[in-house]
This record gives sequence, C-alpha cells and structure tokens, in this order.
Amino acid sequence: MPGWVIVGTQWGDEGKGKITDYIAKDFDYIVRFQGGNNAGHTIVIDGEKFKFHLIPSGILRPGKIVVIGNGVVIDLAVLRKEIEDLKSKGVDVSGLRISNRANIIMKYHRLLDGAEEVFRGGGSIGTTKRGIGPAYSDRAARAGIRVGDLFSPALKEKVDFVVSLKNKVLKDVYGIDEKLNPNEIYAELLEHRDCIKEYVTDTAMLLNNALDEGKKVLFEGAQGTMLDIEHGTYPYTTSSHTISASACIGTGVPPRKIDKVIGVAKAYTTREGSGPFPTELSGDIGEYMRKMGGEFGTTTGRPRRCGWLDLAIVRYACMLNGIDEIVITKLDVLGGIKRIKVCVGYDLDGKRIDYPPSTSHEYDRCVPIYEEIEGWDRMERDEWAEICKKGYDAMPEGAKNYVELIEEFCKVPVSMISVGPERSMTIIKHD
Ligand code: GDP
Ligand code: IMO
Ligand code: MG
Repeated sequence: MPGWVIVGTQWGDEGKGKITDYIAKDFDYIVRFQGGNNAGHTIVIDGEKFKFHLIPSGILRPGKIVVIGNGVVIDLAVLRKEIEDLKSKGVDVSGLRISNRANIIMKYHRLLDGAEEVFRGGGSIGTTKRGIGPAYSDRAARAGIRVGDLFSPALKEKVDFVVSLKNKVLKDVYGIDEKLNPNEIYAELLEHRDCIKEYVTDTAMLLNNALDEGKKVLFEGAQGTMLDIEHGTYPYTTSSHTISASACIGTGVPPRKIDKVIGVAKAYTTREGSGPFPTELSGDIGEYMRKMGGEFGTTTGRPRRCGWLDLAIVRYACMLNGIDEIVITKLDVLGGIKRIKVCVGYDLDGKRIDYPPSTSHEYDRCVPIYEEIEGWDRMERDEWAEICKKGYDAMPEGAKNYVELIEEFCKVPVSMISVGPERSMTIIKHD
C-alpha cells in the first residue's frame, strides 16, 4: 500500500521540503497533516527559491494533488498569499485541496500567542508567534472555527461568541485593549471563504478513496520529532504531534494504509526557539555551520542555534516514528571541519543515558557523550555535483564513514544523501 510518511528527526528545518519535492515525483498526492504556517519549507528549482508555509511541497510537480489535511491549522490570509504568489510565478494550483475539518488561525490566536510569550518572560518558548498554540488550544477546547464552518449559517453566531470571549481574555488577562470587532472578523472570513471555496472538500474521503484505487500518497511532516507536543522537549515544543502517527490523525487515513516512514536528519543539529540543546556550539564551529548552512529561519529570519549531530535523538526519532530509511541532508556543510563529533548518549548526574530524558530540567543537565571521527575537505558545489553524478562510492572517505556511523548507531539504513538545495544535489545510496 503506497502511503509514505516523511518526518523530521530533530528540531525542524531538516530539509523536509527539499526531500518531499524530490520524492514527490513518484506520487499522486502530497499531503500536509499537522502544524501550520510556523513551518517554512524551502525548495530551490533552477536557482529559484520557493518557500512554503502551508501548501505541500509537491505543488511544484505538475499534475499532483496537494492536500492540506484536517490536522493543519490554517491562517487563511497566509494561504491566500501563498496561492497568489504561486499563480504569479506561473505555478498551476488547481490540484490544491483543503480539508473542511481543518481549524482556522484567527487574529486573536496571533495576539494571544504574542501575549502568552510576553507573560512567560524568561521562560518564553520562542514561538513563531503565528498563533499556532492558541489555535490548537481552541481546537481542544472545542472553541475552534473550522474551514467547514465558513459555509454554515451559524458562522456569525459562532464568531460573535468567540470574539466576545477573546476580547475579555485579551483585556482582563493580558491588559490588551485592542477590542476585536466581530463584524469585521466575520466579513473577513466570508471574503477568505469566497477565495478558497473551490479547493475545500472532505479530504479524508478523497485520500482513502485514492489509496483504495491504488494511488500513491506522500505525507509531508512539518517541524520535527523533538518539537512533538508530547514526545519532544516539552514545554519547548510546538502544539501539534509531529511524529508519523500524526499522519493518520491529521488526515483520516488509517495506519494500515501507511507502509513506509522516511526520517530526514540534518548532518548536524539546529534549533530555532528556546529549550534544551545539549550539543549546541557557541564558538567558531557553530558559526561555521550557521554560515555555510545558511541557518536562518525560513519563517522568522531568526539565526538558528547550531551544534553537533545528536544521534541519541535521531535514534529516539527512529523508534517513535518507526523510521524505515534515513535521509541525511546538508552533508556538504560539514566539509572543512577537521574532526567531527557526534553525540551518542548523555551523562545525567553521573549516570549514562542513551535517550533524551522526559523532562526539560533533566535534559538541561545532560552532558553529551561524544564519538569523534576524521572529517573531509570542504568541496565546492561543482565538486559535489560531479559526485552526485558518479554516486555514493565517489564520496570522500570521511563523509562515507560519517554516513555509515549513523546507520550503525541507529540500526536503520540511509537511503539518500543531500548535498545541496537543488534536486540534482542528491545521492542515492543503495545498501
Ligand atoms: P524544512 O523546514 O525541513 O523543509 O527545512 P528548511 O527549508 O526550513 O531548511 C533547510 C534549508 O537548507 C533550506 O534553505 C534548503 O534550501 C537548504 N537545503 C536543503 N538541503 C540541503 C543540502 O543538502 N545542502 C545545503 N547546503 N542546503 C540544503
Ligand atoms: P519546519 O516545518 C523549526 C519551533 C519554534 C519554537 C517552537 C514553538 O520548517 O521544520 P510554534 O510557533 O510552533 O508554537 O513554536 O517550535 N518551530 C520550528 N522550528 N522549524 C519549524 O518548522 C518550526 N515550527 C515551529 O521555533 O521553538
Ligand atoms: Mg523549515
């Protein structure tokens, strides 16, 4: 059964967008199942950069159906802009489908996201301030407005109720006097509805029927395993489930229709917001990774924190997601570092542990245990392009040792290695 899931194994920005776009050529449907426009997936084609926050990365492959599943929280203004930008670049968006069960991110969600962060002070999560957490909170509280509600005669009543409630919270709890006008919000929703209505459908029916007909469906994860609301570095996580199981909940496709999980692992580690990061590097090597890897947030522009590859978390991700194959990205970035370290476990208060602990306060005390291997010389893009043509065996010895160390440690094969943003900068590794 050809349902494949792609997930991030770290704290996001592993290069899922590039890998989804690469793999999408062999699929009929490409589906986002969680998160919202906190995600930023970058794809480079013929030198042109595309950044997607909501639309699945398969949109650049002509003839595909791309689906925003029920588990995604949608900022309709952002979605419309993304549609318009694509149209202006000549990309056909007629294959877009939007779940009628997806929750909508409202203006008060964005305001509350910012206000909650300020209220947390020094303990702030470092969210993307896109309203993600408050939107998922409202979903759980059954106070969300869903895409399907846009077509309901009860919409006005619902908006009036929720907006009056949020005005009270904003003023009485956070001291924000910006009184939101329910009539304006209602009018805005109707305008959004008219612009997106042609794409809205029951995507659970659509995807199950497609799979039953033998069509191929690729599920594109956002964020990464360590940002999962329960399995990640709580509370320094996002508000959705980011692991592979979420592909089912977030689309209505049952687990037995999924037969492969691909974990994307960046060759080093990055993290955008606050929270534990044992292998973080503050000196020259961290700076080198940031510079060579262009590690600045796609959504926020913030410099990403950088550090050594943490195999303890990649192995943990393999377990939680049931990863069948690992794809290593950005291996090119490590070229030029003489000795490369990888974290293989932690020392927690004098005791060795092999997996991330469940609490952030324990994780903060973890000291990484490293293994060290010989690096390889820095190579220019053209040199890597030659290697991509020749295949895995042509890679520098140090780089091959690095890949094989990851395989051995995680007990999962590496199927592909990415050494540049473009499609062509990809090496298939047959084992
Ligand atoms: P995502 O959120 O997981 O899709 O990742 P992002 O798009 O936020 O960040 C990955 C960044 O690295 C993007 O700018 C990509 O264009 C770029 N990228 C992807 N793969 C590679 C690679 O193998 N090498 C290099 N140098 N850059 C890459
Ligand atoms: P992609 O899909 C990296 C991080 C934020 C913050 C935490 C909570 O591009 O890999 P949120 O706004 O979700 O409430 O923020 O999660 N975060 C990401 N970090 N890549 C992402 O997405 C992220 N989406 C959220 O930086 O630490
Ligand atoms: Mg990203």
